[in-house]
Amino acid sequence: MDQIKEKRKIIVTGALPYANGPVHIGHLAGVYLPADIYTRFLRKKNADVIYICGTDENGVPITLSAEKEGISPKDLVKRYHKIIKESLKKLGVEFDNFSGTSRKIHHDLSQKIFLELYEKGYIEAKTSKEFYCENCKKFLPDRYVEGTCPYCDFDEARGDSCDSCGSWLEADQLINPRCKLCGTKPIKKETKHWYLLLDKFQGKLEKWIEKKKWRKTVKSYLKGWLKEGLKPRPITRDLEWGVPVPLDDAPANKVLYVWFDAPLGYISSTIEWAEKIGQPERWKDYWKDPNTSLIHFIGKDNIVFHGIIWPAIIMGTEEFTLPDEIPANEYLNLEGKQISTSRNWAIWLHEYLENFEPDFLRYYLCSIMPETRDSEFKWKEFQERVNQELINNLGNFVNRTLKFTDRYTEGRIPKPGKFSEKDKKMLSEVNSIIDKLDASLSKFNFRQAIRLLMQISTTGNRYYDQMKPWESRKKDLQRMATTIYLCSHLTHVLGTIGKLFIPFTANKIFSLLKLEEKEWDKLKEIELPEDHKTGKIEPLFKKIEDTDIEKQLRRLNMTHVTIDDFTKMGLKVGIIEEVEDVQGADKLYKLTVNTGEKRTLIAGVKECYTPEQLLNKKIVVITNLEPATIRGIKSEGMLLAASSGDKISIITPDEDVPAGSKVS
Ligand code: MF3
Ligand code: ZN
Repeated sequence: MDQIKEKRKIIVTGALPYANGPVHIGHLAGVYLPADIYTRFLRKKNADVIYICGTDENGVPITLSAEKEGISPKDLVKRYHKIIKESLKKLGVEFDNFSGTSRKIHHDLSQKIFLELYEKGYIEAKTSKEFYCENCKKFLPDRYVEGTCPYCDFDEARGDSCDSCGSWLEADQLINPRCKLCGTKPIKKETKHWYLLLDKFQGKLEKWIEKKKWRKTVKSYLKGWLKEGLKPRPITRDLEWGVPVPLDDAPANKVLYVWFDAPLGYISSTIEWAEKIGQPERWKDYWKDPNTSLIHFIGKDNIVFHGIIWPAIIMGTEEFTLPDEIPANEYLNLEGKQISTSRNWAIWLHEYLENFEPDFLRYYLCSIMPETRDSEFKWKEFQERVNQELINNLGNFVNRTLKFTDRYTEGRIPKPGKFSEKDKKMLSEVNSIIDKLDASLSKFNFRQAIRLLMQISTTGNRYYDQMKPWESRKKDLQRMATTIYLCSHLTHVLGTIGKLFIPFTANKIFSLLKLEEKEWDKLKEIELPEDHKTGKIEPLFKKIEDTDIEKQLRRLNMTHVTIDDFTKMGLKVGIIEEVEDVQGADKLYKLTVNTGEKRTLIAGVKECYTPEQLLNKKIVVITNLEPATIRGIKSEGMLLAASSGDKISIITPDEDVPAGSKVS
């Protein structure tokens, strides 16, 4: 934490989340929460820090999701930018600026930097043969190609990486490549792209990384890349969405690769911030000062981009400060399985917030943060730790202290007597915990830090139990007064430190105490005003009930369904009245089905049924499924079918019953 002592400026960033879906607990535990706690810590220490973020709005992840949802990339990005921004705010994540990379300010900066590197000879054009789908009539960048992973045999590896084993891939390495959109085998076709000549930075990067005292996982991973020798990497793509390549000889639909422009989003977001606060040049104080400490909070899949490619871009421009720290986290799993957004195996922040307190999630995620190895979110454990630790330990200490004050000292913090040896011992114990906590935070050890916070309230509870104010109140009023006085001091300390981790609770503590938060460097000083009257008392928390957790487990499909759940599904007999093809989709039909009323269904049965086989067939349909837009067509239900391997067999009623008959 020399940055603060040395009065350096500090930029904290959270990896820009793709605006192609809401954020989930994995993003929070990996990036936004640790970065938020750290920034709150720095601010408490009066450091000159800004916390910068925004949504990553370019690239294949965006266009693919837009196609899937049947809307334009622009609308997709708008939708998720809003959800992400609002939900993070509700979680108490306090950015200085939250921008987005489809804004003009970002396009301008990205094009400018591209040109600068191009003119300096760090970017070169090259023609090559790339995958092209003759059916869809387009090139297939990155995730538009799928196939079998050469390392782990996973059948749905993507053109840039394999989700199953985590390897970074080149599309060429895929076995049996196919077009993600239509499933056909792509051909190779010549096209022109621009390459960042990473090899020119090899030596400089090696020297730079060697000196860094980063987490072992981060350093050894980067060294692995350097050891293989850096090669030129294409930084443009054939795509209709993104930052256009700013060269006259660039054909239409050539855009910058998302990993070239996205990290520049840290800078464009800072420029936006400077404009918003009415000091448009201010961003330079941070980015153009080589002494600034730039700290990137990221997940482990982002290490190579932040440790090699992005620093190379910065080195090439010779304009901006280089990353100082890269505290990359491992993964958070959920109930024994990897989080998967496509399989909806996730806890989405905006949904969580409809059911529970933000601080409960902050508390639990911080205490299981995947700092050195993968960790796991379990709903039952979430309940236990919140109820047992946060509520029974910290909550209990604050409540009993304030309740006692309310009842027996007229709601005033009493005037203490002389401190006894036991009082002093307790205080010195707490003060040494504060020192350790400060050191843990400086080293990005958030898990340890939050445990130390709980140790303060454990110490408080133990002290309270030993001192028994409920007894001294009857025989030694001075003793009682000193005990309650010191417990109030601890409550004040808990609120102040708690503000980093559980800010909503901390604010409640301050309003209960009717006190402002303390300064960080005065944590060890007792600063209670004389004869201070505390506020209205009320319990700090409400416990999490079993039923709340069961509801969540049911949502994840981890418990039995009830008869109720089953009867909620509106299953009905339908008769297929029309069968049409879906443009560009080999597996789909658009069906018009009469289930008492006419509805449209998109069904993936084309490989097993001809239109003639389907026409007038009686089928079973779930009629009250949330409508989904598939290929731009609204699908209002799902037909039931059995499947085994490649074979699909549609379920039909055994005897003739009219359309609209109920199935149960
Ligand atoms: N959107 C990327 C991801 O979710 C992260 C981008 S970080 C940035 O993996 F540096 F490029 F901004
Ligand atoms: Zn195709």
